[in-house]
Amino acid sequence: MAAYAGAPAPEVDGARDGEPRTGAGPRVQDGIAVIFDEASGYYRHLRWEKNPIVLLEKAQTHQVLVEELGSGPVASALEIGCGPGTWTPLLADRAARVVALDLSPKMLEQARGAVAAEHVSFLQGDAAHFDPGTTFDLVMSVRVLEYVPEWREIIARLERLVAPGGRAVVITKTPVSVWRGTGRSRWFGPRNLVRRLLRRDMDPGFWQRHLPVHELTRAFAEAGMVNIRVRPVILGLPLYVRGTKQYPIIPAFAERPALAATQAAWRWVARRGRRGRLASLIFAESYAVSGRRAAAPDHVAPRAAVS
Ligand SMILES: C[S@@+](CC[C@H](N)C(=O)[O-])C[C@H]1O[C@@H](n2cnc3c(N)ncnc32)[C@H](O)[C@@H]1O
Repeated sequence: MAAYAGAPAPEVDGARDGEPRTGAGPRVQDGIAVIFDEASGYYRHLRWEKNPIVLLEKAQTHQVLVEELGSGPVASALEIGCGPGTWTPLLADRAARVVALDLSPKMLEQARGAVAAEHVSFLQGDAAHFDPGTTFDLVMSVRVLEYVPEWREIIARLERLVAPGGRAVVITKTPVSVWRGTGRSRWFGPRNLVRRLLRRDMDPGFWQRHLPVHELTRAFAEAGMVNIRVRPVILGLPLYVRGTKQYPIIPAFAERPALAATQAAWRWVARRGRRGRLASLIFAESYAVSGRRAAAPDHVAPRAAVS
């Protein structure tokens, strides 16, 4: 693993960079690491590149990240859950020093192949226990928190991770939206359907929760973040059943006009004010919360802080 530039090599969950974690016992993160190790070979293609629909979703996500990260150069940036390095170049272009953290060694292998830049260090570790003892001007996390039971601890730690005046941007899946239930394996398999209806816990080696907007924004505010902003990321109507196998919900001839309508709706929503953005979350598969760490401790009540 790459050494961590600019700070002592961080202790990751009781172990040094690259060493196996010890003492914690079997936990959700061990199962999640296995799942994403397995997905590492196909995740990027399937999720972001396979067809015009996911390419549009990638463009939407890219645009949101560019706008929320801001354009100026910064000294340092951290990515939590970099996966195969899909978004790491956005930080590498802006920051003189980048740390990209992920639980899955195989995802990190992919990321290293995708982002060959000397100022980017890749670290294997659990974000829930990541405490590097230094701050970053930008902290970004895309589609990760929904797999971390300790997500609140990660957001609370922004207080120590984000430098005064720095920014944090988190993208996660929308809990209440027309997109829920479009994951084939989660809803359409009879076992999963029964388990969900009976509210049985998923596999103990897996955890997923679609985080409510008000909980995430409140956590941002409690971590001392200000100018908190919520906006939809992937927006439109679900045209495919999601998951590792994708089935079109609409016929092929309707795909192009549906994509054009989706893009037009996305642009329209981007021009709306706070209320419009919040209302549009019902059509959003994912949403972003961003905020700035105040230079001085000026904690604001969570509701008042959200714009
Ligand atoms: C759905 S993928 C998203 C990857 C990438 N951000 C993207 O958008 O393409 C989620 C990633 O989060 C990582 N992850 C999940 N839980 C984590 C944790 N507790 N600490 C660090 N990384 C974690 C997984 O290994 C996986 O690479």
